[in-house]
This record gives sequence, C-alpha cells and structure tokens, in this order.
Amino acid sequence: MTRQSPGGENRTMIPLLLDCDPGIDDAVALGYLMCQEDVEVVGIAASGGNVPTAQTALNALSWLELAGRGDLPVHPGAELPLAAADGTFGAPPLYADTTHGPSGTGHAVLPSPRTTPSDISAAEAWVDAARAHPNELIGVVTGPCTNLALALELEPDLPQLIKRVFIMGGAFNYRGNTKPTTEWNIDHDPEAAARVFSGFASAQHRPVVGPIEATEAIVMTPDRISRILHGTSDPQWHNWLEHLAEALRFYFEFHAADGHGYLAQLHDPYVLAAGLQWARNPACTGGIPWAKTALAAVDVELQGSLTRGETVADWLGRWGAAPNAELIRHVQAEDFLHHLETTLMKGPTYDHAR
Ligand code: BDR
Ligand code: CA
Repeated sequence: MTRQSPGGENRTMIPLLLDCDPGIDDAVALGYLMCQEDVEVVGIAASGGNVPTAQTALNALSWLELAGRGDLPVHPGAELPLAAADGTFGAPPLYADTTHGPSGTGHAVLPSPRTTPSDISAAEAWVDAARAHPNELIGVVTGPCTNLALALELEPDLPQLIKRVFIMGGAFNYRGNTKPTTEWNIDHDPEAAARVFSGFASAQHRPVVGPIEATEAIVMTPDRISRILHGTSDPQWHNWLEHLAEALRFYFEFHAADGHGYLAQLHDPYVLAAGLQWARNPACTGGIPWAKTALAAVDVELQGSLTRGETVADWLGRWGAAPNAELIRHVQAEDFLHHLETTLMKGPTYDHAR
C-alpha cells in the first residue's frame, strides 16, 4: 500500500499492530517502532503481563506521547488471562514487578499521558486492523497472547486475513525464565498461546516464534545505551532515550541480581524487527533476518502440575502434525544489536517546525 510517510515521500507502508505489555524491553520495541519511516502503526494493543493491563495501557500511552506519538491508539486488552477469566484455572496472574519495576517502567518516571486508552478493545482492534488491511497486516505480540486468542474467537478467519504473526515467547527444550520450564509470556496465559498456535496453523505464512533460548543472546549493556544517548541530537528523542536509560538501569540491576551480570536481555525488540524486515522482503533467501530458524509442530502444556505453560516442539514428528510455527533457534545478536543501536541513535523523524 502506497502512502505518504512522515517524511512526506510516497512509500510503500507496512501496516502493523503491536500487542505488548510494557515492560522495559517492550518499551525498547516501542522506541524502535517510532524510528521506522515505512510503517503505518495501525494500533498498539496492551495486554496484561509484566504489570496489569490498565498499567501496560498507561505505559504504552506515556512512552508514545513522550516520543510525540500521542496520536496512536492504545487499545486496552483483557484484564485476566483466559483461564482465570472463565474460572477454569483459579490462581491469580503473576506480575513481573521484580523484573520491570512496580509500574513496569523500572526507575523511569514517565509523565502522565494526556490521552486515554481507546474505547475499542485490543481484541476488536486486531480484527478491525486485519479486515482493514487484508493479507497486509503484520501482527507482533511481545506480551501474552490473550488478546490475539480473543480476536480469533471474534473472527475465525483472522489467520487468513493477517499477513504474518510474530510472537515473542516460549522456551523449547530449555530452562524457563518463570517456572523451571516456562517462559513469561506463555506462562502468563498458556491457553491463549495454545489457541493461537493451533488457530494460526492454517495461515498462509506460519507464525514466527522467538523463544528465550534465542532472544536471551540479545543483551543491552550500559555502554551501548550510553553510546546511543550520546549519539542522538534531537532534544525530544534524547529526552525519550534518557527515560529509557532509567528504565534499563532497573533492568540491569534485575539481571545482575538474577546472576546474568550488569546487562539486560532484550527479548521483544528483535521479534518486532524480524517481523518488519521480513515484511519488507518476504521472499529473501535465508527467511527471517538475523536468525536461523526451524519449522516444527508446536503446542503448549496445559495440564502438567510442574510444567503447565511449557512450550513443546515435536522435533521428531511423533504427533504426525504439520509444522504450525517457524521457531527462531539462533539470533546473530551482535549484528542485530548494531542495527538496534544505529536505529535508536537515528531516532524518529521530527518536524519541529510544525
Ligand atoms: C518476555 O517476558 C517479559 O518479561 C518480557 O517483556 C518479554 O516479553 C521474556 O520472557
Ligand atoms: Ca513483553
């Protein structure tokens, strides 16, 4: 679709919906998104995950407004994971305040947004966006899959309408970061992830799934964020990055306390970037940029008293099921980090004269 980009030129724009739970690495993803000139952000969906839904919606609005994009709609997601909402699994959801801080923004104190969340729910926003951009929309999920699963209920043809879905989540044959074998986003709402994996099995392009065994290699360091800060000249973007650096300081401290060193694993921005790069060139050899991938039939364990929420890939084909996901197995982290650094340093295009 050819549209005018913020720079004024006619460009083919990529329609994108980001479903996120900011969250510090989600905030990096939002920042990366603000720097893209050929993307039409159709909407931001907020899901509960790192902090409750009302707070992730507020955080998304604040990060966007601070970047000068208070015009973008933020759609509030479901308040509870599916099984908590329908009473089939009674435990209240866990939130990640030790990882992302009580407000989900680490040490950053963001200005209160002047805008409010949209009246259109996140699930409806998925459906509206897919119908408005049939076979063009790129959907990226960097939080739990709750909203996308609910959207599938509203519009069972969603997998045929969306061009491709990119999901950050899972730990396949790998130790978890939440329970011994589970990853945070999937663990938060296992039923939603299971429904999305099975629902999108009929999609033209299989969902791309970025699990932690791949994304943990992408580490932000104090040196790198300081280089990004010093390399940017626009005052508004510099201010945005200063807030991000304060958020990251908390993330560094968490990772240090968790035994990883004074750094921060950035899971979310890679999955967004992979989606955008793929959308720009779906036919490229090598498939997903900066990555080695493998196709597999995948599912989520919903019962196990020790393993509920574990993602399982049937590498040996024992289920006799066709692959329903393309799993990221390895990321060329240095190459991607270099790209992330130069992108964030460049920043969005602002027209301060307007
Ligand atoms: C995922 O969990 C969240 O804490 C992060 O934002 C990321 O989406 C990593 O397991
Ligand atoms: Ca996230």
